[in-house]
Amino acid sequence: MKFFIDTANLAQIKEAHDLGILDGVTTNPSLMAKEGIKGEEAIINHYKTICEIVDGDISAEVLSTEFNAIIAEGQKLAAIHPNIVVKVPMIKDGVKAIKWFTDNGIRTNCTLVFSAGQAILAAKAGAAMVSPFIGRIDDSNWDGVELIAQIANIFSIQGYKTEILAASIRSSLHIVKCAEAGADICTCPLDPILGMLKHPLTDIGLAKFLEDAKKM
Ligand code: E4P
Repeated sequence: MKFFIDTANLAQIKEAHDLGILDGVTTNPSLMAKEGIKGEEAIINHYKTICEIVDGDISAEVLSTEFNAIIAEGQKLAAIHPNIVVKVPMIKDGVKAIKWFTDNGIRTNCTLVFSAGQAILAAKAGAAMVSPFIGRIDDSNWDGVELIAQIANIFSIQGYKTEILAASIRSSLHIVKCAEAGADICTCPLDPILGMLKHPLTDIGLAKFLEDAKKM
């Protein structure tokens, strides 16, 4: 399973990259706004900087919701760097746009996916990635990881090439469960990634080894 970091914060992107396990980055309008990125020029420059830090897939989300506007915006984003993946929402014009991008050699990540039916439509349109938001599904008393498993099963039966990008990850356990359920990629904030390092027995064991090393 590939690891993406889900943030527009450059310090966190660098920290995850320095760990040596980072395969890409996802952003969204909320994450960009959180970093105070405003206006077309600033947005484009921010994506350029991210592409300089991480040599992997960088999802850049369109803000438009109408077909022609999505195409125009997606083309601009794709022109920033070959690693840019245009992130398109799961709406009718979004699906049409994903098909257009696919036919024109531009890779897409279909975002805001909450059902297997939506994932099938995105795959049929040729999305490179589909993003089920598992944390938000859990928040509404459904099982987000179960959706990952269902989509993985369908994609395997149908032979769809679209990668399953588990998004809206809230914990280290979510990451482990998504790996188990067949996600190809998980995108998560820095904390759940760093949380995977932790185990009290590791700390106790290391303290003992270091203590005993003094007797060597
Ligand atoms: C996916 O690409 C989204 O950016 C993200 O995972 C949404 O997560 P949230 O539900 O924590 O906002």
